[in-house]
Amino acid sequence: MRTQTSSESSVHSQQSSTPLLKDAAAEDQDTFLQVIGVVGVVVVVIPWIAIPVIPLGIIFFFLRRYFLETSRDVKRLECSTRSPVFSHLASSLQGLWTIRAYKAEQRFQELFDSHQDLHSALNVGQGGLILSYALNIIVVFPWCIRLSIEVENMMISVERVIEYIELEQEAPWELEFRPPPDWPNNGMIALSKVNFKYSSDGPLVLKDLTTDIKPGEKVGIVGRTGAGKSSFIAALFRLSEPEGRIWIDKILITEIGLHDLRKKMSIIPQDPIVFTGTMRENLDPFNKHTDEELWNVLEEVQLKEVIEELPDKMDTELVEFGSNLSVGQKQLVCLARAILRKNQILIIDEATAHVDPSTDELIQKKIREKFAQCTVLTIAHRLSTIIDSDRIMVFDSGRLEEYDEPYVLLQNRDSLFYKMVQQLGKAKAAALTETAKQMKSSTFHFSQGGKLLSIIELAEELAASEFNSWCNSEGNIQMMLSDHVVMNASNGQILILTVFEIAL
Ligand SMILES: Nc1ncnc2c1ncn2[C@@H]1O[C@H](COP(=O)(O)OP(=O)(O)OP(=O)(O)O)[C@@H](O)[C@H]1O
Ligand SMILES: [Mg+2]
Repeated sequence: MRTQTSSESSVHSQQSSTPLLKDAAAEDQDTFLQVIGVVGVVVVVIPWIAIPVIPLGIIFFFLRRYFLETSRDVKRLECSTRSPVFSHLASSLQGLWTIRAYKAEQRFQELFDSHQDLHSALNVGQGGLILSYALNIIVVFPWCIRLSIEVENMMISVERVIEYIELEQEAPWELEFRPPPDWPNNGMIALSKVNFKYSSDGPLVLKDLTTDIKPGEKVGIVGRTGAGKSSFIAALFRLSEPEGRIWIDKILITEIGLHDLRKKMSIIPQDPIVFTGTMRENLDPFNKHTDEELWNVLEEVQLKEVIEELPDKMDTELVEFGSNLSVGQKQLVCLARAILRKNQILIIDEATAHVDPSTDELIQKKIREKFAQCTVLTIAHRLSTIIDSDRIMVFDSGRLEEYDEPYVLLQNRDSLFYKMVQQLGKAKAAALTETAKQMKSSTFHFSQGGKLLSIIELAEELAASEFNSWCNSEGNIQMMLSDHVVMNASNGQILILTVFEIAL
């Protein structure tokens, strides 16, 4: 009975082990060839890798041999102790009646337990267990190392996020004190002892800037690259907090929230900013204007025809950063956006640097037309763009070196502006000087208009010493309260006040 059972079980175990052996052998061949292939390719690409590969291969070969001998013995032991358990169980089940007839249950049970103990409590069994786990570790360990390295690498992103979280934050967007909705209705800008740097440990890029820009004045800003022109604008927008004091109309800009400040000044930047989205969203991101207004403004900047030819007209999607528009067209979109915003202060930072002269002319014409009453600050390298400004600021190394009417600056042969104009060549310099002269003769005349009374109110409201200091430092004696109003009719436009009649 016992012999029959053990032969049956061995046949059975043979049947079940055959396909396993076949699979294992095939997989072994497969992986072995893969390893050879990978090592071969790597060595062909970088032959130096052969140097560590050869000793490693030898070490692995010996390790495998040692492991194979041990694991084979362990497997043998395991099999030889497992078979008695199964054969005892099978023969007990078959001879159950006989066992009961002889009342030998207890004895058979003890025998079964002892077989089982021998199989499971063997020290070699424990050794086998450890070895089979150790084998597992060989597979799992590299994976574990790789994952831990990946986690560590991904933690770099977390580290960056934490770094950003800990960055010093901008001032609040809105403060308790809100400027009136129509602020700034004059567009006067005054700066007193302003120093500006981009970071707390960075160098000062604007130094001791004290000046004023009158309501509705058109100011050209020039200077060499890195002189601080864009930084002046950055200080107005509080991209970093400036030291000193800056007023726009009657309000100190540091006393209001950033949103309240920034949305009241329009800027046409050097690199025109177009968002991903439809043309309509680009022109009117807050959905405040009617279709008619949008088409009108597009007509004004001569983009109407271009937009009408687009497949979905105003609803055409502009791809990322508006790459389906030319730089000049993007500039015009920015201009249209600025016209729609109707802010009293417009800032143009090299807006026409990338456009052709006729587009430049169009932009300048539109700006003069649409922003006639507004304060316009224009940064430009092309002097012809700003020669017809009311006044010109010349920056050098973060200092405001000169600030006067273009013709006055051109009269002074030591002035930086004179030198900049002369560098353009005789013909161009003569043309620019002529334009400046014509501007000068047509600019000032006395009038009794009443538009800009509020500058006087402002003067009264500011601390007197402060007001005098920024008036005097630029030599703008006419800014002191005097008897007459001087109005600027530059470009045939209206009202740019320098002095206002006190009686008004
Ligand atoms: N974001 C910034 N962070 C730190 N320093 C800056 C930053 N932007 C400008 N600067 C520095 O401020 C100084 C003035 O630069 P600014 O951009 O104001 O010059 P710019 O007169 O506008 O020159 P450009 O004519 O080339 O536009 C430069 O020395 C520049 O290195
Ligand atoms: Mg700049």
